[in-house]
Amino acid sequence: MTTAPDRYAVIGNPIVQSKSPIIHGLFAAATGQQMEYTKVEGRIGEFAKQLDELRAGGMRGMNVTAPFKLEAFAYATHLSESAKLAGAVNALKFEGGEVHAQNFDGVGLVNDIERNQKTPMRGKRVLLLGAGGAVRGALLPFARSEPAVLVVANRTLAKAEELVSMLRTQSSVNVQACSYEDLSEPFDVIVNGTSASLFGEAPPIPTAVYSPSALVYEMAYGKGATPFLRQAKAAGATRLVDGVGMLVEQAALAFEWWRGVRPSTEQAIAQLAIPIDFS
Ligand code: ATR
Repeated sequence: MTTAPDRYAVIGNPIVQSKSPIIHGLFAAATGQQMEYTKVEGRIGEFAKQLDELRAGGMRGMNVTAPFKLEAFAYATHLSESAKLAGAVNALKFEGGEVHAQNFDGVGLVNDIERNQKTPMRGKRVLLLGAGGAVRGALLPFARSEPAVLVVANRTLAKAEELVSMLRTQSSVNVQACSYEDLSEPFDVIVNGTSASLFGEAPPIPTAVYSPSALVYEMAYGKGATPFLRQAKAAGATRLVDGVGMLVEQAALAFEWWRGVRPSTEQAIAQLAIPIDFS
């Protein structure tokens, strides 16, 4: 007798673009897990009701993407430290009446930088651009990597200052808030966590922040040669990457949390990577 596979899904709106089913399908095949992973289009304004229905239908866990990460936070009964710090949730696990919630984006990003990009951040100068949800989720994982200095720079300085004050209550890392125009020294790792690329723009940072050996990281995935990456290249940076590795690494953390098996991420990253064309 065969039993039905355990069910998982990603919920968002829109959702057609999501690569999560491909990634989790590769993980399941490689680790021999009997599971099904689908896409669900979230109904705006009915997130909790829809989740109740999905759970009643036997769903075991979900990934959550825009615009539902805050509603997932509110829906959870048990929030992890990562979810509390990010103020947002990207993975849920359902156990009876309990809804456990995590946010793996920040650790996924750090794993990609340190393992896949072979750039340990310990003792390095690290710059995070932006002060929205994406950067907030990355802060504590970055601090735990023990950089020499972690600078958070944002168009609206007050928002960067707020995040830095919050991090100082959690970590003793040397963290500073800065406006874009006040950046003047080169960094070893520069991460664009703003949404500027979605508007065809780049954060207006001085070219002095880039050095030829710096790792320059566009958090968004598959957006090609964004204005940020073009600006870095023009300034002489040579190590330019997008967020495909972050996407796959956060998925691997969710998969391990649900299934108790850590999948290898190499194959999925190779399959989903889109070469950045600067021509
Ligand atoms: P997300 O959840 O994707 O982080 P968000 O919370 O809306 O989205 O935050 C967007 C971030 O991108 C903010 O840091 C925003 O800067 P402000 O705080 O000054 O608004 C930044 N951002 C958006 N468009 C930008 C642009 N054109 N140039 C520079 N920064 C930009």
